[in-house]
Amino acid sequence: DHQQTAAGQQPLPPHVLIFPLPMQGHVNSMLKLAELLCLSHLHVTVLLSEYNHSRLRRHADIESRFSRYSGFRVATIPDGLPDEHPRNGERSMEIVLSLKKTGGFEFRKLMESTDALSDGGSRRRVSCLIMDGVLSFAIPVVEEMGIPFIYFRTVGACSFWANFCFKEVTEAGELPLKGKDEDKYAYWKKKELDLIVTSVPGMEGFLRRRDLPAFGRVDNANDPGFQTILTETRRTAISSGLILNSFEDLEGPIMDQIRKHIPNVYSIGPLHTHLKSRLDSEKVKSTQNSSSFWEEDRSCLTWLNSQSTNSVIYVSFGSVTIMTKNELLEFWYGLVNSGQKFLWVMRPDSIIGNENGYENKVPLELEEGTKARGYMVGWVPQHEVLAHPAVAAFFTHSGWNSTLESIAAGMPMLCWPYFADQTINSRFVSDYWKVGLDIKDTCDRVVIEKKVREIMLERRDEFLERARSMAELAKKAISEGGTSSLNLNRLIKFIKATV
Ligand code: UDX
Repeated sequence: DHQQTAAGQQPLPPHVLIFPLPMQGHVNSMLKLAELLCLSHLHVTVLLSEYNHSRLRRHADIESRFSRYSGFRVATIPDGLPDEHPRNGERSMEIVLSLKKTGGFEFRKLMESTDALSDGGSRRRVSCLIMDGVLSFAIPVVEEMGIPFIYFRTVGACSFWANFCFKEVTEAGELPLKGKDEDKYAYWKKKELDLIVTSVPGMEGFLRRRDLPAFGRVDNANDPGFQTILTETRRTAISSGLILNSFEDLEGPIMDQIRKHIPNVYSIGPLHTHLKSRLDSEKVKSTQNSSSFWEEDRSCLTWLNSQSTNSVIYVSFGSVTIMTKNELLEFWYGLVNSGQKFLWVMRPDSIIGNENGYENKVPLELEEGTKARGYMVGWVPQHEVLAHPAVAAFFTHSGWNSTLESIAAGMPMLCWPYFADQTINSRFVSDYWKVGLDIKDTCDRVVIEKKVREIMLERRDEFLERARSMAELAKKAISEGGTSSLNLNRLIKFIKATV
């Protein structure tokens, strides 16, 4: 049986299959978990979509970054969408729906062809699956094969828990769904958005209706893709556990609520700093650990080097957010009129109507203002920007990875949430952790100017102080004996027991 090795040799280590939802934020955190498991001498296969793998090959050579780990492999699966599909903005939810349709067949095919995953004897067959949310088509396949699976939800505990309680929220009539409550929905958009939501235990004090996913700039509580995310979240309870890229001092009380339904929660974040600290302690030089789908423009670091300390606001809205030309102009005028320096990531596909990206610049007549005060690029090495002394605040869409990276870097945030978990993340940043301001779906140059000045000037020291104390807690969590470090060791022990 190829599972055994020749007499006298070490038995083969367990083989973990890691399956992220094929989106930038999800892939980033799952590749960091993959490397942490490789550091513990496990064999790991990461299952990427063919589309994303081809993009990563262009900009972030995964194979060379993992070349030092003999037990690492990449496998690919089609996401079922045509290559020219933009996979951004509201259409990003079509990835979820497409995978739901084709993923089951493709995943079964992959798992049943053991040589694809065991390389004909140099590695065991998969002994444990770590999977993202909304990939439940994988469950019947691994259950038939007797393989345990663990969910890894790459969002915060706060949004995971609110989504888990969505059934109660809608039954309590605290969230109208379009169609069923059409008139109420319209009424609500105006009047009752600031009412407190009472049916999410642990958030009674401050979660408002406007913070729920329905009220991002995209109403996705009614989106079939998002509906899938909601129903799937409820099913997490049947897994062997839940991994979260968060830490106990950040979201402990929320995780205790989750533990009432899913006893085994492994909070092991912040993953990017956790990986860095374990690489350092293993005296392994961390290569450029980017896993970006876009080319990273490093010239922004040279520009930052010429700026004075705490003088720049970093503006970036993640890999999915899109905006109209008018919204772009409101931001541009708000930033320029604030008088603050800004480094603005204008992702090539982020302006509605200019998907092909050649025109994703502010109009020519505004170039002068930009030159004087700002620097605009398509994509940056975000960890390095957040660590740069010239940067004093992060104007963000509140994606979970950006939120956690900002907290770990001791960086205050000005939040402009777009959809999904971002409206809850932004509420927690402003009202629970108090490390920033939340402008919700406002896109008005006067408000933007005012809020930029508030976080960069009037209340800068207050927010920097608060953000730095949170960064200290993040550092403690991943240090020897810290909660995230202990949970990671516990996760590795569980995986080793699966063989
Ligand atoms: C998506 C969803 O939008 C988000 O709500 C959810 O929490 C995770 O999945 P995304 O929009 O990509 O995430 O945002 P985010 O979670 O912040 O991930 C973006 C990643 O890209 C971060 O790890 C960030 O470091 C990186 N990034 C972003 C860069 O490396 N360079 C950039 O210029 C911008």
